[in-house]
Amino acid sequence: MFSEKDFISKPFSTIIEEGNFQWSAPSNIALVKYWGKKENQIPANPSISFTLNHCKTITKLAFAKKQNDNNFSFDLLFEGKTKDDFKPKIQKFLERIEIYCPYLKDYHFTIDTENTFPHSSGIASSASGMAALAMNIMSLEKALSRNFGTEMTDHFFNQKASFLARLGSGSACRSIKGSVVVWGNHAEVNGSSDLFGVEFSSKIHDNFKNYQDTILLVDKGEKQVSSTVGHDLMHNHPFAEQRFAQAHENLSAIKKVLENGDLTEFIKIVESEALTLHAMMMTSIPYFILMKPNTLEIINKIWKFRNETNIPICFTLDAGANVHILYPENVRVDVMQFITTELVGYCQNGNYICDAIGTGAIKFI
Ligand code: DP6
Repeated sequence: MFSEKDFISKPFSTIIEEGNFQWSAPSNIALVKYWGKKENQIPANPSISFTLNHCKTITKLAFAKKQNDNNFSFDLLFEGKTKDDFKPKIQKFLERIEIYCPYLKDYHFTIDTENTFPHSSGIASSASGMAALAMNIMSLEKALSRNFGTEMTDHFFNQKASFLARLGSGSACRSIKGSVVVWGNHAEVNGSSDLFGVEFSSKIHDNFKNYQDTILLVDKGEKQVSSTVGHDLMHNHPFAEQRFAQAHENLSAIKKVLENGDLTEFIKIVESEALTLHAMMMTSIPYFILMKPNTLEIINKIWKFRNETNIPICFTLDAGANVHILYPENVRVDVMQFITTELVGYCQNGNYICDAIGTGAIKFI
């Protein structure tokens, strides 16, 4: 069993003066949702997600040695421009991971980041953003440890990157490596951990190969309630315990489905998870609703289309009004026809993003 202590790095004597790394990391969409957490970003229940391919954050980390004056020092650029409103989140992240990365205060960092998806699309960029930053930090740690005479394995690199990303944003730990990733202890998933995401190890049925996710951008506005506040409302939530138990059951069920390719069962679990997530929001105190009228319009249209055509499409939702439409690659033409004729009208400015299952973070430099 891993413990947090396993991720505390050696006190390197930092001989590397300066350099830079660049990584991209994708967003991910949960099939069984993470909603509710304990202290230190420990999830209240296990979750599983598809890694996306096109929705990514690309982050360059430049570092230059400085006097360790017991402060973090960094500049933040978003799409080439200084972005000070993101700084508190990064500062908090660095504070949380400092104990595991004691070399951070030896450097001044320039974090230069951009997303492949529109900034104001309402798509959570915290997962891809924190994952990309964590990969860069691990590249630095790998270079430092090599200097120290130790060669870090890829396995440890990815595991610690996921561990660090989790401390930035829970779902980010599922954006490091693998097409399907499980985060949180689960009795039937070998090696699963509350501390980091693990690649789903069973062979995934061909039905899910290149599975498509078309994201309908229903509302790009600021969410009234952040995920972090939403998670918090699961404390003392009247249905919390049943919900956490249900997530364990749904993860067992979807594990079988991913192995046997049963799309009918897949649809049942995924849609139920999406609605349960929003039901938790609607039944917390205070209660809130993140779906918009067009979210419901789209859901009803999807159900009608599925009934009429038997095409196995389904929807899922994250903590917002946008709708992710999931479907196998072999029905893509029909589904795109349906989306462009019947659903685009419900999207803000007609915007949607075509994505599919991807494999995880990629190193550029
Ligand atoms: C609804 O990972 O954004 O997307 O850990 O507070 O950063 P923090 O929350 P976050 O929560 C995501 C919740 C979700 C479901 C999921 O991705 O599993």
